[in-house]
Amino acid sequence: MKFAKNILCIGAGYVGGPTMAVIAAKCPDYKVTVVDINAERIRAWQTDELPIFEPGLLEVVQAARGRNLFFSTDIAAGIRSADIIFVSVNTPTKTFGHGAGMASDLQYWEKTAHEIEKYADGPKIIVEKSTLPVRTAEAMEHILQENKKGIHFEVVSNPEFLAEGSAVSDLLDPDRVLIGSRQSGPGLQAAQEIAAIFSRWVAKDRIITTNLWSAELSKLVANAFLAQRISSINAISALCEKTGADVGEISFAVGSDKRIGSRFLNASIGFGGSCFKKDILNLVYICRSYGLDEVADYWQAVVKMNEYQQERFVRMVIKEMFQTVVGKKVVLLGFAFKANTGDTRESPGIHVARKLLEERARLVVSDPQALENARKDLAGLAGVEYETDPYRAAVDAQAIAVITEWDVYKKLDFVRIFASMRKPAFVFDGRNILDHQQLFNIGFNVFPLGKPSLTHFK
Ligand code: NAD
Ligand code: UGA
Repeated sequence: MKFAKNILCIGAGYVGGPTMAVIAAKCPDYKVTVVDINAERIRAWQTDELPIFEPGLLEVVQAARGRNLFFSTDIAAGIRSADIIFVSVNTPTKTFGHGAGMASDLQYWEKTAHEIEKYADGPKIIVEKSTLPVRTAEAMEHILQENKKGIHFEVVSNPEFLAEGSAVSDLLDPDRVLIGSRQSGPGLQAAQEIAAIFSRWVAKDRIITTNLWSAELSKLVANAFLAQRISSINAISALCEKTGADVGEISFAVGSDKRIGSRFLNASIGFGGSCFKKDILNLVYICRSYGLDEVADYWQAVVKMNEYQQERFVRMVIKEMFQTVVGKKVVLLGFAFKANTGDTRESPGIHVARKLLEERARLVVSDPQALENARKDLAGLAGVEYETDPYRAAVDAQAIAVITEWDVYKKLDFVRIFASMRKPAFVFDGRNILDHQQLFNIGFNVFPLGKPSLTHFK
Protein backbone atom coordinates (compact mmCIF):
# COMPACT_ATOMS: atom_id res chain seq x y z
CA MET A 1 0.00 0.00 0.00
CA LYS A 2 1.16 3.53 -0.79
CA PHE A 3 1.05 5.76 2.29
CA ALA A 4 0.42 9.53 2.18
CA LYS A 5 3.36 10.15 4.52
CA ASN A 6 6.09 8.28 6.33
CA ILE A 7 6.53 9.09 10.00
CA LEU A 8 9.50 7.80 11.95
CA CYS A 9 9.97 7.87 15.70
CA ILE A 10 13.44 7.35 17.15
CA GLY A 11 13.05 5.95 20.68
CA ALA A 12 10.52 3.21 21.49
CA GLY A 13 10.04 3.99 25.18
CA TYR A 14 7.16 5.18 27.36
CA VAL A 15 6.60 8.15 25.06
CA GLY A 16 7.61 6.91 21.59
CA GLY A 17 5.63 3.66 21.73
CA PRO A 18 2.23 4.91 22.93
CA THR A 19 2.39 8.21 21.01
CA MET A 20 3.13 6.52 17.71
CA ALA A 21 0.53 3.81 18.32
CA VAL A 22 -2.12 6.50 18.73
CA ILE A 23 -0.91 8.45 15.67
CA ALA A 24 -1.01 5.22 13.63
CA ALA A 25 -4.49 4.44 14.90
CA LYS A 26 -5.78 7.90 14.01
CA CYS A 27 -3.94 8.29 10.68
CA PRO A 28 -4.33 4.97 8.81
CA ASP A 29 -3.01 6.59 5.62
CA TYR A 30 0.34 7.38 7.29
CA LYS A 31 3.04 4.78 7.74
CA VAL A 32 4.42 5.02 11.26
CA THR A 33 7.70 3.28 12.11
CA VAL A 34 9.25 3.23 15.57
CA VAL A 35 12.96 2.45 15.84
CA ASP A 36 15.26 1.90 18.79
CA ILE A 37 18.81 0.76 19.48
CA ASN A 38 17.39 -1.61 22.07
CA ALA A 39 16.59 -4.75 20.06
CA GLU A 40 14.92 -6.46 23.01
CA ARG A 41 12.49 -3.55 23.38
CA ILE A 42 11.68 -3.60 19.69
CA ARG A 43 11.06 -7.35 19.81
CA ALA A 44 8.69 -6.87 22.73
CA TRP A 45 6.73 -4.20 20.81
CA GLN A 46 6.27 -6.81 18.07
CA THR A 47 4.60 -9.22 20.50
CA ASP A 48 1.62 -8.96 22.83
CA GLU A 49 3.99 -8.77 25.82
CA LEU A 50 4.59 -5.05 25.32
CA PRO A 51 7.71 -3.65 27.01
CA ILE A 52 5.62 -1.22 29.10
CA PHE A 53 2.33 -1.58 30.93
CA GLU A 54 -0.29 1.04 30.06
CA PRO A 55 -4.04 0.50 30.34
CA GLY A 56 -5.60 0.20 26.85
CA LEU A 57 -2.26 0.28 25.01
CA LEU A 58 -2.23 -3.29 23.74
CA GLU A 59 -5.57 -2.83 21.99
CA VAL A 60 -4.37 0.34 20.22
CA VAL A 61 -1.11 -1.35 19.17
CA GLN A 62 -2.86 -4.50 17.97
CA ALA A 63 -5.29 -2.49 15.83
CA ALA A 64 -2.50 -0.76 13.87
CA ARG A 65 0.53 -3.07 14.09
CA GLY A 66 1.43 -4.62 10.74
CA ARG A 67 -1.09 -2.34 9.00
CA ASN A 68 0.57 1.07 9.31
CA LEU A 69 2.51 0.71 12.56
CA PHE A 70 5.90 -0.98 12.49
CA PHE A 71 8.71 -1.53 14.99
CA SER A 72 12.28 -1.94 13.79
CA THR A 73 15.95 -1.65 14.70
CA ASP A 74 16.92 -0.42 11.23
CA ILE A 75 17.43 3.23 12.11
CA ALA A 76 19.25 4.14 8.88
CA ALA A 77 16.46 2.81 6.64
CA GLY A 78 13.88 4.48 8.84
CA ILE A 79 15.60 7.86 8.51
CA ARG A 80 15.97 7.56 4.74
CA SER A 81 12.31 6.87 4.09
CA ALA A 82 10.83 9.33 6.61
CA ASP A 83 9.17 12.66 5.83
CA ILE A 84 8.76 13.50 9.52
CA ILE A 85 11.06 12.25 12.29
CA PHE A 86 9.94 12.40 15.92
CA VAL A 87 12.83 12.05 18.36
CA SER A 88 11.77 10.67 21.75
CA VAL A 89 14.99 9.32 23.16
CA ASN A 90 15.77 9.50 26.85
CA THR A 91 17.21 12.73 28.29
CA PRO A 92 18.18 11.74 31.83
CA THR A 93 20.01 13.84 34.38
CA LYS A 94 23.76 13.92 33.78
CA THR A 95 25.66 11.70 36.18
CA PHE A 96 29.19 12.83 35.32
CA GLY A 97 31.32 15.89 34.63
CA HIS A 98 30.10 19.47 34.47
CA GLY A 99 26.47 19.80 35.55
CA ALA A 100 26.37 16.28 37.05
CA GLY A 101 23.19 15.73 39.06
CA MET A 102 21.49 18.76 37.49
CA ALA A 103 21.84 19.21 33.74
CA SER A 104 20.27 17.01 31.05
CA ASP A 105 22.47 14.34 29.56
CA LEU A 106 22.04 15.09 25.88
CA GLN A 107 24.32 12.38 24.50
CA TYR A 108 21.46 10.17 23.20
CA TRP A 109 19.78 13.19 21.72
CA GLU A 110 22.91 14.39 19.96
CA LYS A 111 23.62 10.92 18.60
CA THR A 112 20.26 10.90 16.83
CA ALA A 113 21.02 14.32 15.31
CA HIS A 114 24.24 12.94 13.80
CA GLU A 115 22.44 9.84 12.56
CA ILE A 116 19.76 11.91 10.87
CA GLU A 117 22.43 14.09 9.27
CA LYS A 118 24.33 10.99 8.12
CA TYR A 119 21.50 8.91 6.64
CA ALA A 120 19.01 11.49 5.38
CA ASP A 121 18.87 11.87 1.62
CA GLY A 122 16.01 14.36 1.37
CA PRO A 123 14.30 17.18 3.32
CA LYS A 124 12.67 16.30 6.63
CA ILE A 125 10.86 17.80 9.56
CA ILE A 126 12.53 16.88 12.83
CA VAL A 127 10.22 16.92 15.82
CA GLU A 128 11.61 17.22 19.34
CA LYS A 129 9.37 14.94 21.40
CA SER A 130 11.86 14.40 24.20
CA THR A 131 11.90 16.95 27.01
CA LEU A 132 14.89 19.19 26.41
CA PRO A 133 16.58 22.29 27.79
CA VAL A 134 15.32 25.50 26.21
CA ARG A 135 17.25 26.30 23.00
CA THR A 136 18.23 22.68 22.27
CA ALA A 137 16.62 22.97 18.84
CA GLU A 138 19.37 25.40 17.93
CA ALA A 139 22.01 22.73 18.61
CA MET A 140 20.03 20.23 16.52
CA GLU A 141 19.87 22.79 13.68
CA HIS A 142 23.62 23.37 13.85
CA ILE A 143 24.39 19.65 13.59
CA LEU A 144 21.94 19.14 10.73
CA GLN A 145 23.26 22.18 8.85
CA GLU A 146 26.60 20.35 8.65
CA ASN A 147 25.18 18.05 5.97
CA LYS A 148 26.96 18.40 2.66
CA LYS A 149 23.94 17.23 0.65
CA GLY A 150 22.18 20.59 0.69
CA ILE A 151 19.20 19.08 2.52
CA HIS A 152 16.85 21.41 4.40
CA PHE A 153 15.78 20.20 7.85
CA GLU A 154 13.16 22.08 9.82
CA VAL A 155 13.29 21.48 13.57
CA VAL A 156 10.07 21.87 15.55
CA SER A 157 9.29 21.25 19.21
CA ASN A 158 6.27 19.15 20.16
CA PRO A 159 6.71 18.29 23.83
CA GLU A 160 4.70 15.42 25.27
CA PHE A 161 2.41 15.93 28.25
CA LEU A 162 1.11 12.39 28.74
CA ALA A 163 1.26 10.91 32.22
CA GLU A 164 2.11 7.27 32.78
CA GLY A 165 -0.79 5.07 33.74
CA SER A 166 -3.13 7.21 31.65
CA ALA A 167 -0.95 7.56 28.54
CA VAL A 168 -3.52 6.28 26.06
CA SER A 169 -6.39 8.43 27.29
CA ASP A 170 -4.07 11.45 27.59
CA LEU A 171 -3.00 10.96 23.98
CA LEU A 172 -6.54 10.42 22.72
CA ASP A 173 -7.92 13.40 24.60
CA PRO A 174 -5.09 15.83 25.38
CA ASP A 175 -5.69 19.14 27.17
CA ARG A 176 -3.51 20.64 24.48
CA VAL A 177 -0.97 19.80 21.81
CA LEU A 178 1.92 22.25 21.75
CA ILE A 179 3.94 22.91 18.62
CA GLY A 180 6.81 25.37 18.58
CA SER A 181 8.60 26.40 15.42
CA ARG A 182 10.76 29.06 13.85
CA GLN A 183 8.53 31.95 12.88
CA SER A 184 9.84 31.84 9.29
CA GLY A 185 7.88 30.59 6.26
CA PRO A 186 9.33 27.04 6.33
CA GLY A 187 9.11 26.97 10.14
CA LEU A 188 5.43 27.90 10.19
CA GLN A 189 4.71 25.46 7.37
CA ALA A 190 6.41 22.63 9.30
CA ALA A 191 4.34 23.50 12.38
CA GLN A 192 1.19 23.27 10.24
CA GLU A 193 2.24 19.83 8.97
CA ILE A 194 2.61 18.57 12.51
CA ALA A 195 -0.65 20.24 13.53
CA ALA A 196 -2.35 18.43 10.62
CA ILE A 197 -1.45 15.06 12.19
CA PHE A 198 -3.03 15.90 15.54
CA SER A 199 -6.02 17.70 14.04
CA ARG A 200 -7.26 14.28 12.89
CA TRP A 201 -8.57 13.80 16.43
CA VAL A 202 -7.76 16.90 18.51
CA ALA A 203 -9.97 20.02 18.32
CA LYS A 204 -8.22 22.93 16.59
CA ASP A 205 -8.47 25.22 19.62
CA ARG A 206 -6.45 22.70 21.62
CA ILE A 207 -3.54 22.83 19.22
CA ILE A 208 -1.30 25.64 20.38
CA THR A 209 1.46 27.00 18.19
CA THR A 210 4.29 29.09 19.61
CA ASN A 211 7.87 29.97 18.91
CA LEU A 212 10.44 27.22 19.42
CA TRP A 213 11.81 28.42 22.74
CA SER A 214 8.38 28.88 24.32
CA ALA A 215 7.43 25.30 23.44
CA GLU A 216 10.66 23.86 24.82
CA LEU A 217 10.43 25.90 28.01
CA SER A 218 6.67 25.33 28.51
CA LYS A 219 7.32 21.64 28.95
CA LEU A 220 9.80 22.18 31.78
CA VAL A 221 7.52 24.78 33.36
CA ALA A 222 4.43 22.55 33.20
CA ASN A 223 6.24 19.77 35.07
CA ALA A 224 7.69 22.25 37.55
CA PHE A 225 4.23 23.69 38.31
CA LEU A 226 2.70 20.23 38.76
CA ALA A 227 5.50 19.10 41.06
CA GLN A 228 5.32 22.39 42.95
CA ARG A 229 1.68 21.70 43.86
CA ILE A 230 2.63 18.31 45.29
CA SER A 231 5.52 19.75 47.28
CA SER A 232 3.25 22.54 48.53
CA ILE A 233 0.61 20.16 49.87
CA ASN A 234 3.28 17.82 51.24
CA ALA A 235 4.86 20.72 53.12
CA ILE A 236 1.46 21.45 54.63
CA SER A 237 1.01 17.76 55.56
CA ALA A 238 3.97 18.12 57.95
CA LEU A 239 2.34 21.15 59.56
CA CYS A 240 -0.98 19.28 59.82
CA GLU A 241 0.67 16.52 61.83
CA LYS A 242 1.82 19.10 64.36
CA THR A 243 -1.46 21.00 64.61
CA GLY A 244 -4.28 18.47 64.34
CA ALA A 245 -5.45 19.84 60.97
CA ASP A 246 -6.28 17.26 58.29
CA VAL A 247 -4.45 17.63 54.98
CA GLY A 248 -7.30 15.96 53.07
CA GLU A 249 -9.75 18.53 54.38
CA ILE A 250 -7.29 21.30 53.52
CA SER A 251 -6.83 20.00 49.95
CA PHE A 252 -10.58 19.99 49.51
CA ALA A 253 -11.15 23.41 51.06
CA VAL A 254 -8.27 25.06 49.20
CA GLY A 255 -8.83 23.22 45.91
CA SER A 256 -12.52 24.24 45.86
CA ASP A 257 -11.34 27.71 44.91
CA LYS A 258 -11.66 27.61 41.13
CA ARG A 259 -8.56 29.75 40.81
CA ILE A 260 -6.55 27.03 42.55
CA GLY A 261 -8.35 23.90 41.33
CA SER A 262 -8.56 20.52 43.02
CA ARG A 263 -6.13 18.34 41.06
CA PHE A 264 -2.61 17.42 42.09
CA LEU A 265 -3.24 18.27 45.72
CA ASN A 266 -2.99 14.76 47.16
CA ALA A 267 -0.40 14.60 49.90
CA SER A 268 1.92 11.65 49.42
CA ILE A 269 5.28 10.20 50.32
CA GLY A 270 6.56 12.37 47.50
CA PHE A 271 6.45 12.49 43.73
CA GLY A 272 8.42 9.97 41.74
CA GLY A 273 8.69 9.18 38.06
CA SER A 274 11.38 9.72 35.51
CA CYS A 275 10.61 13.35 34.81
CA PHE A 276 9.56 15.71 37.61
CA LYS A 277 12.87 15.71 39.45
CA LYS A 278 14.97 15.58 36.30
CA ASP A 279 13.07 18.40 34.60
CA ILE A 280 13.09 20.67 37.65
CA LEU A 281 16.82 20.11 38.17
CA ASN A 282 17.32 20.94 34.54
CA LEU A 283 15.29 24.12 34.94
CA VAL A 284 17.37 25.00 38.00
CA TYR A 285 20.57 24.37 36.06
CA ILE A 286 19.43 26.55 33.16
CA CYS A 287 18.49 29.39 35.54
CA ARG A 288 21.88 29.20 37.25
CA SER A 289 23.68 29.19 33.92
CA TYR A 290 21.97 32.52 33.17
CA GLY A 291 22.94 33.86 36.62
CA LEU A 292 19.34 33.69 37.89
CA ASP A 293 20.22 32.24 41.28
CA GLU A 294 17.07 33.41 43.08
CA VAL A 295 14.89 31.78 40.42
CA ALA A 296 16.99 28.62 40.61
CA ASP A 297 16.71 28.48 44.43
CA TYR A 298 12.95 28.91 44.22
CA TRP A 299 12.50 25.84 41.99
CA GLN A 300 15.17 23.79 43.72
CA ALA A 301 13.09 24.01 46.91
CA VAL A 302 10.39 21.91 45.19
CA VAL A 303 12.84 19.01 44.89
CA LYS A 304 14.22 19.58 48.37
CA MET A 305 10.73 19.41 49.86
CA ASN A 306 10.13 16.15 47.98
CA GLU A 307 13.26 14.60 49.47
CA TYR A 308 12.24 15.85 52.93
CA GLN A 309 8.82 14.22 52.57
CA GLN A 310 10.28 10.82 51.65
CA GLU A 311 12.73 11.01 54.52
CA ARG A 312 10.01 12.15 56.93
CA PHE A 313 7.95 9.08 56.04
CA VAL A 314 10.83 6.71 56.81
CA ARG A 315 11.55 8.48 60.08
CA MET A 316 7.87 8.20 61.04
CA VAL A 317 7.89 4.43 60.41
CA ILE A 318 10.97 3.94 62.58
CA LYS A 319 9.86 6.28 65.37
CA GLU A 320 6.35 4.84 65.69
CA MET A 321 7.62 1.26 65.73
CA PHE A 322 9.37 2.05 69.02
CA GLN A 323 12.52 3.50 67.43
CA THR A 324 13.67 0.21 65.95
CA VAL A 325 12.76 -1.93 62.97
CA VAL A 326 15.64 -4.39 63.35
CA GLY A 327 14.45 -7.83 62.24
CA LYS A 328 10.86 -6.62 61.80
CA LYS A 329 9.01 -7.61 58.67
CA VAL A 330 7.59 -4.57 56.84
CA VAL A 331 5.39 -4.89 53.75
CA LEU A 332 5.77 -2.22 51.09
CA LEU A 333 2.35 -2.17 49.52
CA GLY A 334 3.17 -0.97 46.02
CA PHE A 335 6.49 -0.06 44.49
CA ALA A 336 5.59 1.70 41.23
CA PHE A 337 5.98 5.48 41.38
CA LYS A 338 2.22 5.79 40.85
CA ALA A 339 -0.73 3.50 40.19
CA ASN A 340 -1.44 1.83 36.84
CA THR A 341 2.16 1.57 35.73
CA GLY A 342 5.00 -0.87 36.25
CA ASP A 343 7.50 1.99 36.12
CA THR A 344 9.59 2.49 39.25
CA ARG A 345 11.92 5.23 38.05
CA GLU A 346 12.56 7.62 40.98
CA SER A 347 9.83 5.83 42.94
CA PRO A 348 9.80 6.95 46.59
CA GLY A 349 9.63 3.20 47.29
CA ILE A 350 13.30 2.91 46.38
CA HIS A 351 14.31 5.43 49.04
CA VAL A 352 11.99 3.94 51.65
CA ALA A 353 13.25 0.40 50.96
CA ARG A 354 16.92 1.35 51.10
CA LYS A 355 16.52 3.31 54.33
CA LEU A 356 14.51 0.57 56.07
CA LEU A 357 17.05 -2.04 54.98
CA GLU A 358 19.83 0.14 56.40
CA GLU A 359 17.87 0.01 59.66
CA ARG A 360 17.91 -3.79 59.27
CA ALA A 361 14.21 -4.30 58.69
CA ARG A 362 13.11 -7.30 56.59
CA LEU A 363 11.07 -6.20 53.60
CA VAL A 364 8.40 -7.78 51.47
CA VAL A 365 7.77 -5.73 48.35
CA SER A 366 4.36 -6.23 46.77
CA ASP A 367 3.06 -4.65 43.57
CA PRO A 368 0.68 -5.83 40.81
CA GLN A 369 2.97 -4.64 37.96
CA ALA A 370 6.31 -3.38 39.21
CA LEU A 371 8.06 -6.34 40.83
CA GLU A 372 10.35 -6.96 37.87
CA ASN A 373 11.62 -3.38 38.07
CA ALA A 374 11.70 -3.48 41.88
CA ARG A 375 14.03 -6.49 41.72
CA LYS A 376 16.40 -4.48 39.51
CA ASP A 377 16.18 -1.38 41.73
CA LEU A 378 17.00 -3.32 44.88
CA ALA A 379 19.39 -5.83 43.30
CA GLY A 380 22.19 -6.93 45.62
CA LEU A 381 20.39 -5.83 48.80
CA ALA A 382 19.86 -8.57 51.36
CA GLY A 383 16.63 -8.92 53.34
CA VAL A 384 14.04 -8.30 50.59
CA GLU A 385 11.37 -10.68 49.33
CA TYR A 386 8.98 -10.04 46.45
CA GLU A 387 5.36 -11.16 46.54
CA THR A 388 2.57 -10.14 44.19
CA ASP A 389 -0.21 -11.31 46.52
CA PRO A 390 -0.70 -8.76 49.35
CA TYR A 391 -2.28 -11.38 51.59
CA ARG A 392 0.74 -13.66 51.40
CA ALA A 393 3.04 -10.64 51.75
CA ALA A 394 1.42 -9.65 55.05
CA VAL A 395 1.77 -12.99 56.86
CA ASP A 396 3.86 -12.47 60.02
CA ALA A 397 4.55 -8.84 59.11
CA GLN A 398 4.57 -6.16 61.74
CA ALA A 399 3.81 -3.21 59.50
CA ILE A 400 2.34 -2.24 56.16
CA ALA A 401 3.60 0.86 54.38
CA VAL A 402 1.47 2.01 51.46
CA ILE A 403 3.78 3.29 48.73
CA THR A 404 1.56 3.24 45.64
CA GLU A 405 -2.11 4.22 45.37
CA TRP A 406 -3.29 1.08 43.49
CA ASP A 407 -7.09 0.78 43.59
CA VAL A 408 -6.86 -2.91 44.55
CA TYR A 409 -5.35 -1.93 47.88
CA LYS A 410 -8.46 0.02 48.84
CA LYS A 411 -10.54 -3.16 48.53
CA LEU A 412 -8.31 -5.55 50.48
CA ASP A 413 -9.77 -7.63 53.31
CA PHE A 414 -7.86 -6.01 56.16
CA VAL A 415 -9.55 -8.18 58.77
CA ARG A 416 -7.87 -11.17 57.13
CA ILE A 417 -4.59 -9.28 56.82
CA PHE A 418 -4.65 -8.16 60.45
CA ALA A 419 -5.29 -11.72 61.62
CA SER A 420 -2.17 -12.95 59.82
CA MET A 421 0.15 -10.20 61.15
CA ARG A 422 2.26 -9.89 64.29
CA LYS A 423 0.95 -7.55 66.96
CA PRO A 424 1.01 -4.67 67.55
CA ALA A 425 0.32 -4.20 63.84
CA PHE A 426 0.94 -0.90 62.06
CA VAL A 427 -0.28 0.74 58.86
CA PHE A 428 1.64 3.71 57.46
CA ASP A 429 -0.48 5.11 54.68
CA GLY A 430 1.90 7.04 52.43
CA ARG A 431 -0.94 7.77 50.02
CA ASN A 432 -3.91 8.31 52.36
CA ILE A 433 -5.98 5.86 50.32
CA LEU A 434 -7.20 3.52 53.05
CA ASP A 435 -10.13 3.86 55.44
CA HIS A 436 -8.17 4.78 58.54
CA GLN A 437 -11.01 4.58 61.04
CA GLN A 438 -11.96 1.12 59.78
CA LEU A 439 -8.34 -0.04 60.07
CA PHE A 440 -8.19 1.31 63.62
CA ASN A 441 -11.41 -0.50 64.50
CA ILE A 442 -9.91 -3.75 63.18
CA GLY A 443 -6.99 -3.28 65.59
CA PHE A 444 -4.27 -1.58 63.54
CA ASN A 445 -2.26 1.38 64.75
CA VAL A 446 -2.71 3.77 61.86
CA PHE A 447 -0.39 6.54 60.71
CA PRO A 448 -1.67 8.53 57.73
CA LEU A 449 0.14 11.52 56.25
CA GLY A 450 -0.95 14.93 57.45
CA LYS A 451 -3.81 13.55 59.55
CA PRO A 452 -4.09 12.58 63.20
CA SER A 453 -2.75 9.09 63.89
CA LEU A 454 -5.05 6.45 65.39
CA THR A 455 -3.36 4.19 67.94
CA HIS A 456 -4.41 1.71 70.59
CA PHE A 457 -1.52 2.65 72.87
CA LYS A 458 -2.60 4.26 76.12
P1 NAD B 1 12.60 5.71 27.70
O1 NAD B 1 13.90 5.53 28.34
O2 NAD B 1 11.44 4.84 28.10
O3 NAD B 1 12.76 5.53 26.11
C1 NAD B 1 13.77 6.12 25.37
C2 NAD B 1 14.23 5.13 24.30
O4 NAD B 1 15.14 5.78 23.44
C3 NAD B 1 14.94 3.89 24.86
O5 NAD B 1 14.25 2.73 24.48
C4 NAD B 1 16.34 3.98 24.25
O6 NAD B 1 16.90 2.71 23.94
C5 NAD B 1 16.08 4.79 23.00
N1 NAD B 1 17.27 5.42 22.44
C6 NAD B 1 18.23 6.12 23.08
N2 NAD B 1 19.16 6.56 22.21
C7 NAD B 1 18.78 6.13 20.98
C8 NAD B 1 19.31 6.26 19.67
N3 NAD B 1 20.43 6.96 19.44
N4 NAD B 1 18.66 5.69 18.65
C9 NAD B 1 17.51 4.99 18.86
N5 NAD B 1 16.95 4.83 20.08
C10 NAD B 1 17.57 5.40 21.12
O7 NAD B 1 12.22 7.24 27.87
P2 NAD B 1 10.75 7.90 27.88
O8 NAD B 1 10.15 7.77 29.24
O9 NAD B 1 9.99 7.43 26.70
O10 NAD B 1 11.14 9.43 27.71
C11 NAD B 1 11.63 9.93 26.49
C12 NAD B 1 11.60 11.43 26.55
O11 NAD B 1 10.26 11.90 26.72
C13 NAD B 1 12.40 12.03 27.71
O12 NAD B 1 12.97 13.23 27.28
C14 NAD B 1 11.32 12.33 28.74
O13 NAD B 1 11.68 13.40 29.58
C15 NAD B 1 10.15 12.72 27.89
N6 NAD B 1 8.82 12.46 28.48
C16 NAD B 1 8.58 11.31 29.17
C17 NAD B 1 7.31 11.08 29.66
C18 NAD B 1 6.97 9.81 30.43
O14 NAD B 1 5.87 9.71 30.94
N7 NAD B 1 7.86 8.84 30.55
C19 NAD B 1 6.28 11.99 29.44
C20 NAD B 1 6.58 13.16 28.71
C21 NAD B 1 7.85 13.37 28.23
C1 UGA C 1 4.11 13.80 34.72
C2 UGA C 1 3.15 14.85 34.18
O1 UGA C 1 1.88 14.71 34.86
C3 UGA C 1 2.96 14.70 32.68
O2 UGA C 1 2.13 15.77 32.19
C4 UGA C 1 4.32 14.76 32.00
O3 UGA C 1 4.18 14.56 30.61
C5 UGA C 1 5.21 13.69 32.58
O4 UGA C 1 5.34 13.90 34.01
C6 UGA C 1 6.61 13.72 32.03
O5 UGA C 1 7.08 14.72 31.55
O6 UGA C 1 7.21 12.64 32.17
P1 UGA C 1 3.95 11.24 35.36
O7 UGA C 1 5.24 11.49 36.05
O8 UGA C 1 3.85 10.09 34.44
O9 UGA C 1 3.52 12.52 34.52
O10 UGA C 1 2.80 11.04 36.45
P2 UGA C 1 2.00 12.06 37.40
O11 UGA C 1 0.59 11.66 37.40
O12 UGA C 1 2.30 13.47 37.10
O13 UGA C 1 2.60 11.70 38.83
C7 UGA C 1 3.92 12.04 39.17
C8 UGA C 1 4.15 11.73 40.63
O14 UGA C 1 3.44 12.64 41.47
C9 UGA C 1 3.71 10.34 41.05
O15 UGA C 1 4.64 9.78 41.93
C10 UGA C 1 2.39 10.61 41.74
O16 UGA C 1 2.03 9.60 42.66
C11 UGA C 1 2.69 11.92 42.42
N1 UGA C 1 1.49 12.70 42.79
C12 UGA C 1 0.64 13.12 41.82
C13 UGA C 1 1.27 13.03 44.11
O17 UGA C 1 2.05 12.66 45.00
N2 UGA C 1 0.16 13.78 44.43
C14 UGA C 1 -0.71 14.21 43.49
O18 UGA C 1 -1.69 14.90 43.85
C15 UGA C 1 -0.46 13.88 42.15
